[in-house]
Formats: sequence, structure tokens, C-alpha cells
Amino acid sequence: MKVNGIHYRTIWVKKKNPRIIEIIDQRFLPHEFVVEELATLDDFISAIRDMHVRGAGLIGATAAFGMYCAALHAPLEASQAFLQEAARRLIDTRPTAKNLSWAVARQLAAIQEIASAEKRIQLAYETACLIADEDAEYCRRIGEHGLQIIRDISRQKNGAPVNILTHCNAGWLAFVDYGSATAPIYRAHQEGIPLHVWVDETRPWNQGAKLTAWELFQENIDHTLIVDNTGGHLMQHGLVDLVIVGSDRTTRTGDVANKIGTYLKALAAKDNKVPFYVALPSSTIDWDLRDGLQEIPIEKRSGDEVKFISGLSTKDNSLTTVLCGLPETPAVNYGFDVTPARLVSGIITERGIAEPNEKSLLSLFPEYS
Ligand code: MRU
Repeated sequence: MKVNGIHYRTIWVKKKNPRIIEIIDQRFLPHEFVVEELATLDDFISAIRDMHVRGAGLIGATAAFGMYCAALHAPLEASQAFLQEAARRLIDTRPTAKNLSWAVARQLAAIQEIASAEKRIQLAYETACLIADEDAEYCRRIGEHGLQIIRDISRQKNGAPVNILTHCNAGWLAFVDYGSATAPIYRAHQEGIPLHVWVDETRPWNQGAKLTAWELFQENIDHTLIVDNTGGHLMQHGLVDLVIVGSDRTTRTGDVANKIGTYLKALAAKDNKVPFYVALPSSTIDWDLRDGLQEIPIEKRSGDEVKFISGLSTKDNSLTTVLCGLPETPAVNYGFDVTPARLVSGIITERGIAEPNEKSLLSLFPEYS
């Protein structure tokens, strides 16, 4: 997608030095556009753990390049043990997004048995690039499939703007390009369908306020920022036609884990008969799981992320962090929640739209039967 008219992906190989990977450091958006170089395995680990990059697809692509970096630095002796340890450290950074372990496992399967260091590095490089390209292409296809949903609603409304609510950032910043939840929105906007997006601010990291709103602004799409508790009220008053969110891990039965607060939006959508769609590339599907509530690991982050908030100081325009309440107040910070399949209207994948159940998902992905 474009930043000030220039096309960017969220992660790429440095032009003049393919040993270095570059990312957009998302901690500074929307106030500063900072590109960071990742050169060591530790750089990759802190980029994922400390959320310089975030979002399921991008976490997966970053981990894939992290394994390429590990291959570059593997010693000649005991290289297998080195790669296994790198894989373990990368997987441990964030537990919920399936894409992370999926990408690392794919890298290990590609390179583990290769004895020549040179060949291993080349294969790790090619696999990481393939994972990144696939992620972008699958999101583009999600846009094509999801377009039909927005087009239908637009027709039912005789061309009046379609009001779409989204939570967190499942935009291009959460993937390599296009995004999952936003891909149909960008595609519909390209077609000239009038749209308006309600952007949940998404406490505590404010991915909606900081990232989704910035993306929509860059693409010139009409949008309004709301606090996280507003969605239900808007739905009761007929101001939301459609909810589209992303997913970090999806069971084969159609339960989805997404940013904390998604479940409450799904409940409100059900109560108000608002269609609730989840857009995801198949790399987020955990085909080993059936019961999202019992089986999906939910990340718990530091309570300080709840107690403090960061943004631009109105005094001197510098990026500042402030304490909201008492320093002594205990805080708990669950990163994700699970929305059961019964609350989901449909799952938009790169192969088409599935009903949220095993049979329908398997009809699109028969190789997992
Ligand atoms: O904690 P984050 O910012 O990585 O969480 C991101 C989300 O919850 C997204 O909605 C999710 O990854 C689905 S789209 C990639």
C-alpha cells in the first residue's frame, strides 16, 4: 500500500545488502515513519516481542526472515542445534498468532536436512521471500472475495455509504501488504463503492487509533475513530452495516482468536443482526485445534501497557508516555479473546468465503481432511 504516494510493504530485504532485513517500526506511527534494520537474531526477537512489528501475517513473515538470519549466522559445527534453538526463541516471542510457529516450522522443514551452509542460506532466503509474497497475495485475494459482501450491502442500501466497523489493525501493517479485514475495504473503495469505517481505538496499544486510522487516511477512505465501547451503541442505532475483523488463530471448527474486545463486538453484532465476518489467510488456521476457548493460547502482556498510554505531547510535539492512574493499581493485560464460531457470519479466506464450521472450511482446504 502507499505511504505519501510511495508503495511500501511492511518488511523487505535491504537493496544493497541482502543480509539485512528492513521493517517499518510501527511503534512510532502515525507520528513518525521509521524504518528499522534487522541484522541479528536478537533484533528479530525484540522486533516481534516488543511490537515493532505486529499482526499475525507480519509476525509470521518476520519470523521467516528471522530464520533466514539464523541460517546466515549458524556455526559450521552444530548448525542444526543452532537453528532449533533459534526456532524455539522466535516461537516463544508471542504465543497467540499461529502464523509465527507456522512460518518457523515451514523454514525448518525447508532447511533442516540441508548439509551445505551455502545452500541452506539460499533456501532460507527463498522460503522467507515466498512466505512474504504469499502473505501479500493471499490478502489481495481476500480482498477480491470480500468485495462481494460489501457490494451486496451497497446495492441493498441503494448506494448509500456502507458503514463497516473494524477492531484493532488487521490492515496492511498487520501483514506484508493489503491486510485481511481491510483488503475488501480497499478493493471496494477502488471500485468506487461509497464507504465509511468505524475504527475502534483498541486499547491498550491503540492499534486502531494509531495504525488503522493512519492507513485509511493514507488511502483517502472516510473513517471515524471511536472508543472501544461505542460499537454496541452504534449497532443498536443501525449505524453499522457490517463488521470485519482479522484473526490470529482460527480452529478447524471456525472459532477465532483476535485482539481483546473482538468477542464483545461479535455479541453486539449478533444481538443486532449485523453480519460479523472474519478475514484471514489460511496461515492463521490451526488445523490441530477444535475448541478455541479451551485450546488457543492467549497472550498476557505487562500490566504497564494498560496503566500507561503513549502519544504526541501537546507541549513540545515529542513522543511521550504518561501514567493514566495510580502507579499502585494492579492491572491485567490479556492480548486476545476467542469469538466462538456460532457468532461468526463467515470466514473470508484466500480461497473464498467459508461458513464458520469444519465442513465448510475443509471444502475450501480439502488437503487438511
Ligand atoms: O497485538 P497485535 O497488534 O499483534 O494484534 C493484532 C490483531 O489482533 C489483529 O487483529 C490480528 O493480527 C488479525 S489481522 C493480522
